Amino acid sequence: MADGGEKNPETKTVTPRRSFLNFLLGATVIVAIGGIINTLVRYLWPTEEIIGGGKAAGTTSLPLSEIPVGAAKTVRHKGKPYVVVRQAAKVYAVNAICTHLGCIVYWDPSIKQLACPCHTAFFDLNGNVITGPAPSPLPTADVKIAGDQIIIS
Ligand code: FES
Repeated sequence: MADGGEKNPETKTVTPRRSFLNFLLGATVIVAIGGIINTLVRYLWPTEEIIGGGKAAGTTSLPLSEIPVGAAKTVRHKGKPYVVVRQAAKVYAVNAICTHLGCIVYWDPSIKQLACPCHTAFFDLNGNVITGPAPSPLPTADVKIAGDQIIIS
């Protein structure tokens, strides 16, 4: 009677099932903790693909064909969003973080200005405030066209 597990037939069928469920629970907890740790590590030490632009070179490039004349595209450059606007004579790259409260500005082609959707600030292509509550201009980045690439630095 010291080893009651062998004498009770229910114990033999219940114990493996319980072990299997404990194994599944443990595996689920380990996978969940691994996912949390992975997310935390990627947040604290983001890769260059997440940051965009490459830390060493300090440049971001994209094909010229991605932005038709008069259009714009928001890209990541040195970890920050930039609105890249292509005009007939020049390409501009303006930091998209509004200097008022940090909303993301967008290019409005109908008025040819950068517009902030939060409190209706407007900026020109050099980042200067045209109107609205923004206290200072948007920073800009240097842009050049090399072959079929737009290079932001
Ligand atoms: S956050 Fe852009 S105007 Fe307020």
